[in-house]
Amino acid sequence: MRLRLFLQVCSFATSWLGVQARLVTVPIVPFTETGGSYDLSALTEIVVDSRYVNAIDHNGQTLIPPTLQEFAETFQEDLKSVLGLDVQVSKGSARKKNSIFLTLGNQTGFVDAAGKWTAEAYELKVDGTGAVITGASPLGAWWATRSIIQIATTSDSALPKGSAVDAPGWGTRGVMLDAGRHFYPEEFLIEMCSYLSFFKQNIFHLHLSDNIYNNVGLYSREESLSLYAAFRLWSDDEAVAGLNRRANESYTRTQFDNIQTKCAQRGVTIIPEIEAPGHALVIVQWKPELGLSDLSMLNISHPDTIPTMKTIWGTFLPWFHSKVVHIGADEYESGLVADYTRFVNEMNTFIQEETAGTKSMRIWGTFTPEEGANVSTSVSIQHWEVFEDLPYYDYIENGYHVLNSDDYVYLVGGWSGSYPQVLTETKIFDGPYGHAYSPIIFDATNKTDNPARNNSLVVGEAAALWNDYGPNSTTVLSAYYSWRVALPALADKQWGGDITADEYDSVFDALHAVIPDQNLDRAIESKSDTILHYTFESNSKTVTDKSGNGYDGTVHGCKIADKSLHLADGCYLETPLGSKGRDYTLSFRVKPTSHIPGTLFAGPDSTFVNGNGSITNATLISGNNPYSLNYTLPLNTWTDVSLIAQGNQTFLQVSEGSSSKTMEFLTRIGVNGDSLVWAPIAVEAPLTRIGEGFTGLMQNIVLKGSAPESSS
Ligand SMILES: *[C@@H]1O[C@H](CO)[C@@H](O)[C@H](O)[C@H]1NC(C)=O
Ligand SMILES: *[C@@H]1O[C@H](CO)[C@@H](O)[C@H](O)[C@H]1NC(C)=O
Ligand SMILES: *[C@@H]1O[C@H](CO)[C@@H](O)[C@H](O)[C@H]1NC(C)=O
Ligand SMILES: *[C@@H]1O[C@H](CO)[C@@H](O)[C@H](O)[C@H]1NC(C)=O
Ligand SMILES: *[C@@H]1O[C@H](CO)[C@@H](O)[C@H](O)[C@H]1NC(C)=O
Ligand SMILES: *[C@@H]1O[C@H](CO)[C@@H](O)[C@H](O)[C@H]1NC(C)=O
Ligand SMILES: *[C@@H]1O[C@H](CO)[C@@H](O)[C@H](O)[C@H]1NC(C)=O
Ligand SMILES: *[C@@H]1O[C@H](CO)[C@@H](O)[C@H](O)[C@H]1NC(C)=O
Ligand SMILES: *[C@@H]1O[C@H](CO)[C@@H](O)[C@H](O)[C@H]1NC(C)=O
Ligand SMILES: *[C@@H]1O[C@H](CO)[C@@H](O)[C@H](O)[C@H]1NC(C)=O
Ligand SMILES: *[C@@H]1O[C@H](CO)[C@@H](O)[C@H](O)[C@H]1NC(C)=O
Repeated sequence: MRLRLFLQVCSFATSWLGVQARLVTVPIVPFTETGGSYDLSALTEIVVDSRYVNAIDHNGQTLIPPTLQEFAETFQEDLKSVLGLDVQVSKGSARKKNSIFLTLGNQTGFVDAAGKWTAEAYELKVDGTGAVITGASPLGAWWATRSIIQIATTSDSALPKGSAVDAPGWGTRGVMLDAGRHFYPEEFLIEMCSYLSFFKQNIFHLHLSDNIYNNVGLYSREESLSLYAAFRLWSDDEAVAGLNRRANESYTRTQFDNIQTKCAQRGVTIIPEIEAPGHALVIVQWKPELGLSDLSMLNISHPDTIPTMKTIWGTFLPWFHSKVVHIGADEYESGLVADYTRFVNEMNTFIQEETAGTKSMRIWGTFTPEEGANVSTSVSIQHWEVFEDLPYYDYIENGYHVLNSDDYVYLVGGWSGSYPQVLTETKIFDGPYGHAYSPIIFDATNKTDNPARNNSLVVGEAAALWNDYGPNSTTVLSAYYSWRVALPALADKQWGGDITADEYDSVFDALHAVIPDQNLDRAIESKSDTILHYTFESNSKTVTDKSGNGYDGTVHGCKIADKSLHLADGCYLETPLGSKGRDYTLSFRVKPTSHIPGTLFAGPDSTFVNGNGSITNATLISGNNPYSLNYTLPLNTWTDVSLIAQGNQTFLQVSEGSSSKTMEFLTRIGVNGDSLVWAPIAVEAPLTRIGEGFTGLMQNIVLKGSAPESSS
């Protein structure tokens, strides 16, 4: 469904000046309407100003900025995929009829909240001939293309005539994801960048090393040394051999390059973080002599500690394409402030020297000058909690740049005693003080601790999602769902926008449905609620999909007889589908004839098995973590089974004869080594291969895009 264009008329000027209005996009675009509209479906061309074809933005966060031409080509792809418009990209010195002209220039109003010029600003003019985008830099022009796609989406391609001058209030806008305590595949991170970019967010901070809590009161040294800890970059360099022991849950240089490049193509910069001297158990597991008595902390006075960190950074700095890199540096031993200062300053000097000053360094807010820390003011601080620091007094007044990651918008995946799992609109729109949240709100409990909006040492805001309780607390895609509904609202606030909750709700679904270059919802196109339906009527190599969608299956070695798929000896049925996200019902009849464990369904995000060799429980596996039911499919009996996803819960409904029951897949989260908490787990439906390794019969496989009325 296409929504009508929402033009909010805020104030009226005399007619020859036009009407001041706002285009309800996310972030909001201030706009002066002149009346009438341009029908974007008439568009034939994107013309890139020949003078600036190869221009790049030198002021942004990335060292690999795309040229104006490259941004134009990505825009071209999006016009095709989102709006079905087939247009050319050409070079020219002037605009043409039915074109969008991309050029660079400077206008009054290309300034941020502190009144400083920003390369991310743009002007957008729409008239009867098409549109002209004047970016302060190619990146500014790119953000204007996001506005155009959003306006066209909510207006059925009728761009209102008029003009906008738009600029972000802050230059650092985005999120931080804890990829240390949970692995996220390369493709997921790239899809997330597409998501962030659509709402003009420009950084994706990846926390690349960490460990679950080292409960020193509980664990022996041996237990600490085998606790879950990970370092996500994989290098064959001898200097770091043994540091990373999870080859399969890491990024090679090629993969990390691909992530950074794909994200940069959409204006998003990956900010890498390697954490030390706290949260550094993975380094101590590699070199146990470097630990303090709490082995998750490095002993900075050990003569090999700083050289080890320099070896690690020396190995990986050449991988990174951002202007800022993050060394972590939070939650360290409070008695060792002087060591901490020395560590941070030595690493800062090292990084600047190694990169010939092309990179600067960031740390988490930890020890303040008042507590005796004396960190170079060239190090920027990422504030996270007011019990660590009051950024305005502790850092800004001492000349430090501060990025706001206050825990007002913190999330912890799966479960937490302190933080929510899902970001809500209420937090963003109501804010802590009765008005929307904003990057200058460092302290959500005491207003007077916050700087003025125009304070130039506030660099922006990044919302954090942590995985305190390790890899089995959540699935990969649940990180996206933690942010799905409200992160774009926060993106508006990070930009400096003033979209209201009602406006946001009026456009969110329509905008969300068209975000280019990602399918984080794992949506599947379908003519009706029934996405796929196999009835196994004839013994042929192709199984016809009765849903009308044409998702026919291909049989690899199995026999079909008596309306049943006969599974044995590793044969399987292949579908053209991957995964289906929330909500769904995947139902089938099954009759296992052996307890030999096999795969009922397998897909890129998950697997559904009837055991693993030592247990026979029905089990979903996601990200290598098994989630088992207290249930085994009975042998030599037909059972009607439905795997159901409803919101963030996953159920299995089984009926044998007249008895029927519903069970929920849960995760058992280990909390600090001394308690366990059961929590819901949301697993995508695995759809690529059916029955591989399973022995028995299957009938009537149906996938629906909804959950039954009352599955819980
Ligand atoms: C706009 O002004 C900025 C700041 O003075 C300058 O760096 C930039 O090159 C100018 N852009 C154009 C396209 O002239
Ligand atoms: C990585 O995965 C492959 C294939 O699944 C497996 O053979 C290999 O043992 C794994 N390596 C590690 C280090 O886990
Ligand atoms: C830290 O290292 C220094 C120098 O090797 C050593 O004297 C000290 O005992 C170590 N501290 C701890 C807690 O191991
Ligand atoms: C902090 O470090 C700076 C630069 O090294 C130095 O000039 C200054 O005296 C130090 N301040 C304190 C309080 O130690
Ligand atoms: C599950 O969804 C509910 C409702 O949105 C939410 O309150 C809860 O925090 C979610 N739990 C997890 C583990 O995501
Ligand atoms: C708020 O912060 C100011 C400055 O730090 C302080 O003087 C005041 O007591 C605080 N108010 C409350 C209610 O804590
Ligand atoms: C910031 O804004 C205030 C008004 O809110 C003004 O008094 C002050 O001069 C401004 N500061 C700068 C550096 O522009
Ligand atoms: C099967 O799963 C159980 C429970 O998760 C686990 O303890 C066991 O080691 C697994 N067995 C195999 C062979 O993977
Ligand atoms: C399995 O049964 C145990 C004991 O009744 C219960 O604590 C646990 O939550 C059950 N597991 C699931 C996944 O429901
Ligand atoms: C498997 O199911 C049985 C009950 O059928 C239960 O006792 C056992 O704990 C389950 N195993 C796992 C790993 O959940
Ligand atoms: C998840 O990991 C914890 C250890 O952190 C473990 O105690 C728990 O059993 C695991 N949960 C499942 C469902 O395997």
